[in-house]
Amino acid sequence: MKIVKIPSKLSSLSRRMKEKGKRIGFVPTMGYLHEGHLSLIKRARKENEIVVVSIFVNPTQFGPREDFKKYPRNLKQDIRLSKEAGSDIIFYPSVGSMYPKGCSTYAETEGLSSFMCGLSRPAHFKGVTTICTKLFNIVRPDIAYFGQKDYQQALIIKRLASDLNMDLKIKILPIIREASGLAMSSRNNYLTLSQRNKAAILYQSLKMAKALIMSGEKSASKVKSAIRRMILKEKGFRIDYITVADPHTLKETKHISSKVLIALAAWLGKTRLIDNIIISLGRKKC
Ligand code: PAJ
Repeated sequence: MKIVKIPSKLSSLSRRMKEKGKRIGFVPTMGYLHEGHLSLIKRARKENEIVVVSIFVNPTQFGPREDFKKYPRNLKQDIRLSKEAGSDIIFYPSVGSMYPKGCSTYAETEGLSSFMCGLSRPAHFKGVTTICTKLFNIVRPDIAYFGQKDYQQALIIKRLASDLNMDLKIKILPIIREASGLAMSSRNNYLTLSQRNKAAILYQSLKMAKALIMSGEKSASKVKSAIRRMILKEKGFRIDYITVADPHTLKETKHISSKVLIALAAWLGKTRLIDNIIISLGRKKC
């Protein structure tokens, strides 16, 4: 397995691999890898000849009062885990090499980024779409893999790739969860043991909402209130948003019919957690 730090070196390596007709799968990450990330790498391994994983804590997607500095990092462990999961190349650039002095061009997706996480993190998705554009240009993947855990992000990246005629396929893979149901996240590392136990209520509330809808509830506001009540029974939570929305446009739904996305973000102490579920009425699978 190779570790490449210089963007131009990876560009030439990718070009050479493409000339040889190799199919490149790409998993962008901010490191501190867990089973959620590894599920993406393992899928990329199955579907491609070359697997590239990037590890880059991207400063432009963090707000000024957010956790860029304290975001968990462990390169040694990440190298071992991504190697075991089947990656061929780790791209580990420095902030200076990705954003050299004078860098002033951004990629931004309007519309989809104005809902949900975009409301409380106004510059976040601009940072994400910019770094993903840069990474896609460097790696030139055939397929890039994203997790449903960050549903809005994945949808925005699909839009970005389509709108800017990027020659790659975006695949969205299911959320990997702890045994308690808590969605795996590098930020779970911030939680104390008792907070981790409490955090399981988020997925429980989504499952409760699903049961409610499956048993005939059509009112989005009633579903949202039921989720809110259930989460706030636990002390220490502050809800950022709960939405019942169209999974393609992210626009809020009032009356639930066919397929809906239920997504939420909540603070537990100083940690912001997100989760979501997609519910298809009339079908058992979600
Ligand atoms: P990061 O949070 O490290 O996540 C990298 C990828 O792993 C994302 O596509 C995310 O959705 C996926 N992922 C995280 N937790 C998951 C889980 N429990 N189950 C399945 N997939 C999961 O998302 C980012 O980094 C950044 O915004 C990035 C796209 C790398 C741009 O900087």
